[in-house]
Amino acid sequence: MIEGVNGLENMFKFLDENQYVIEELTDAIVVIDTEGKITHINKRALELLEVSHENAVGKAMLSVYPESKLNQTVTTQKVERNIRLSVHNRVCIASRVPLFKENRVIGAISIFDDITRIEQMSSRIEADRSEMSILKTILEIAYDGIVVVDVNGYITMISDAYKKFIGIGDDQVIGKHVTEIIENTRMHIVAQTGIPEVNDFQEIHGDYMMATRIPYYVDGKIAGAIGKVIFRNVSELQNINKKFSRVEKDLKNLRSEISSLHRAKYNLNQIITGNEEINKLKNYVNKLAHSKSSVLIQGESGTGKELFAHAIHLSSHRREMPFIKVNCAAIPEHLLESELFGYEKGSFTGADKNGRIGKFELADQGTIFLDEIGDMPLQMQAKILRVLQEGEVERIGSNTPRQVDVRIIAATNRNLKTMVEEKSFREDLYYRLNVINLMIPPLRERKEDIILLSNHFIDLLNQENHGKLKGLSEKTQMQLFSYDWKGNIRELKNVIERAYNIIEGEEFVQPWHLPAHINSGKYVTNSEPLKELVDAAEKKIILERLIAFKGNKSKTAADLGISRMALHKKLEKYDMK
Ligand SMILES: Nc1ncnc2c1ncn2[C@@H]1O[C@H](COP(=O)(O)OP(=O)(O)O)[C@@H](O)[C@H]1O
Ligand SMILES: [Mg+2]
Repeated sequence: MIEGVNGLENMFKFLDENQYVIEELTDAIVVIDTEGKITHINKRALELLEVSHENAVGKAMLSVYPESKLNQTVTTQKVERNIRLSVHNRVCIASRVPLFKENRVIGAISIFDDITRIEQMSSRIEADRSEMSILKTILEIAYDGIVVVDVNGYITMISDAYKKFIGIGDDQVIGKHVTEIIENTRMHIVAQTGIPEVNDFQEIHGDYMMATRIPYYVDGKIAGAIGKVIFRNVSELQNINKKFSRVEKDLKNLRSEISSLHRAKYNLNQIITGNEEINKLKNYVNKLAHSKSSVLIQGESGTGKELFAHAIHLSSHRREMPFIKVNCAAIPEHLLESELFGYEKGSFTGADKNGRIGKFELADQGTIFLDEIGDMPLQMQAKILRVLQEGEVERIGSNTPRQVDVRIIAATNRNLKTMVEEKSFREDLYYRLNVINLMIPPLRERKEDIILLSNHFIDLLNQENHGKLKGLSEKTQMQLFSYDWKGNIRELKNVIERAYNIIEGEEFVQPWHLPAHINSGKYVTNSEPLKELVDAAEKKIILERLIAFKGNKSKTAADLGISRMALHKKLEKYDMK
C-alpha cells in the first residue's frame, strides 16, 4: 500500500476517489500539504489522535499532534518506515512518505497504527515462551514423575523421568488419554472435579507411589490438572511399604494375641455344680457382673476362684475386652511393679529398650485378675490402692499418669481378714477390694459336686479325645466320695485325667485306675483280692527292675518283655512316675 502510494502522480485524486476505502482501513492515515495542513485524515487516525474531523481537516498537523515529524518529511523528502512512536500513551508504528506531483513535493502522508495490543501479546508470547522453556527444562530434569492433562484428561506434557519409568516414548504419550498411559491414575477425575488430591497412594507397576494431583485454571476456568508422582525413592518406599505391612501384620497378630491370650475362657454355664451355695454365688455374680465394683474371691486352692473370675468378666459389658491375669505369687517382688505398671524407655538397666506396657494398661477397658493377692508385697499394695482410687497408672520412669478403666477382681486362698489384723495386708486395700465378696466353699462341703464334676471332666475328655468312656464304676464313685479332697476340684480333675489316660478298654473308671492314696481308702473291699494281689506284685516287680536298670525305662521294658508305652502306662497307674 505504501509502495503504491509512493510515486503516485496524483495522490490527492486517488485519495479523493478512494475515500471510502481509506475510511475503512484499519490503519490510520493522515495527509498534509506542503504547509503542514491536514488535507486528508481517516476515522482510525481521528481516533488515535483523539481529535474530531472539524478540528483536524485544514488544521496544522502540529496543532493536532505537536510531536509530529510529518512536516520534516515534506522537507527531507525521505521515506521512513516502521518508526515507533508514542501517541497518547499508545505505542504506534508509522511510515512517512513524501508525496510528489510532477517531481515536485506537494505534501506527505503518514500511515500508522496502534500496536499496543500486539506489543503486549508478543511480549506475553515472549514471556510464555521463556516460561515454557523453563517448564520444559523442569520436566526434563525433574526426578519426579510429572504429568499434565487437559480438562478432558488428555496428556499435554509429561516429564522425562515419568516416561522412562513407564517405559514409553514422547510420541506415544502426548495427546493420549491419561488412563491409557498411567495405571490407576485419577488425573482425568481431578481435571474434571477440580478437587486436589494430595499424597494419595497410587499403585504403579506393583509399587506404591505418592501421588499429588492439582487442578489448574486458565482465566478462572479449570483447564486441566498437574500431577506429581514420587518414585525417586522407590526402593526406600518399598522398604517403608514392607515395614508398614509388617508392622500392620504384627499389630494384627498382637491384637488377636491379646484377645485370645487374654480372653476369659469360662462363663457361668461352665461352672458345674449341684450345690446350693455355689448356685447362689452364680446368681449373685450374674446380677453384679455389670457393675465396675471390685470383687474379692476367697476360697481354698482349687475351688474354682479363677473360674469365677473368668465368668464375672464374661458376664459383664467388658467381655470383648481383655481379661488379664496376674499371678502375684508367681512374679518375683522386684518385677511385679514393672509387670503391673510397665516402664518407660531406658528407665532402668536391663529394661527393654523400647519400654513396656504394664498389665493394667493392657487390661484397659477390661478386667484385671489379681490372683493370689494375699501374696502381694505391702509396697505394691499401696500402688494398687492408688489405681483403685485415682483410676490411673504411672509407668516406672514416667511422671505422667495414664488413665485406665479397669475392673479389678482379686482372689486369694489366704485369710485376708486375719492378714489385715496381722498388718501384713493393708486394711484400706482390703476394704476397697472387698466390695463384692465371693466365698467359694471347698469340695468337702459340697460333696454332691464330686460325682457331678467327675462326669463333667470325663465328658470333656471324651470330647477332646473322641473317647467313649462311660463314667465311674460304683466302687470308684464311693472311693472318690469318701476321699478328703484337700486339693479340691483341681485335684479331682487331675485324678480323673490320670484315670482316663491309663484306662485300657474298660467302659467305666475302676478303683485301680485311681492313685493309690485314694484307692487304699476304707471303701476298698476284699471282693477283688486277686486283682489287688496281682497289682501289688506287678508294682513290686517293676520297681525292682527299674532300680536294677538305674531308672532306664527302655531297658526295664525290654527286660519285662513289654513295650515302653505299656511300661509308661503302668508307671502312671502305680503312681511311680
Ligand atoms: N464348678 C466347676 N466346674 C467345672 N470346673 C471347675 C469348677 N471349679 C473348678 N473347676 C476346675 O478346677 C480347676 C481349678 O479351678 P480354679 O478356678 O483354677 O481354682 P482356684 O483358682 O480356686 O485355685 C480348673 O481346672 C477348673 O476348670
Ligand atoms: Mg487359682
